[in-house]
Amino acid sequence: MNKKEELAKLEKELTAANLPLKSDANLVFGEGNPDCAVMFIGEAPGETEDRLKRPFVGRAGKLLDECIAGIGWKRADVYITNIVKRRPPENRDPLPEEIEAYKPFLTRQIEIISPKVIATLGRFSMNYFLPYAKISRDHGKVFEVDGRIVFPLYHPAAALRATAVMDDLKKDFTRLPDIAKGILSDGVLAAEFAALKNPKARKDDVPPPQAPLF
Ligand code: URA
Repeated sequence: MNKKEELAKLEKELTAANLPLKSDANLVFGEGNPDCAVMFIGEAPGETEDRLKRPFVGRAGKLLDECIAGIGWKRADVYITNIVKRRPPENRDPLPEEIEAYKPFLTRQIEIISPKVIATLGRFSMNYFLPYAKISRDHGKVFEVDGRIVFPLYHPAAALRATAVMDDLKKDFTRLPDIAKGILSDGVLAAEFAALKNPKARKDDVPPPQAPLF
């Protein structure tokens, strides 16, 4: 099976599974290029996403599209999804049990796509991968989780509410093309990333759990 077929099979299973929010909302599985370098993961669909069954197609989505275009990419180049794949009522925060219930499906979605970089959008998605991270402190830093690069970004909806957050989001975005190419900071390449991950290569300079690489 190729990636598209595997994703279609996963979507079918997800549609059939008895998961929270199923009776009240449509499934928003995710979309994009399964061979992408960067997979964007948000929180949960909103009203427009629920109606159109597509992720990030409302106001926040328009801003995400602008940020992607701003670095010379197209939306179709990347893959976009959410940790919770149905809209919580009134757009409330997703509950821990909802995040947990959708987790096996997101895990498989990530495994199938196998992106170089997971760019998280907002606090919930960031904390899914990095439970102790703080968005105001850790946005725009590069982390390594289970052998994959995780790059936390502010949620576009938060950027629409505050100019300073918008500035940070756009600035962090400008790092993505290099990070996707394996250039993690000036002069540091992917090969060195492997060495940095290896505690022996770092001698006694072993970072605490979830310390950013850059
Ligand atoms: N906010 C999200 O976190 N996801 C969407 O798909 C839309 C808005």
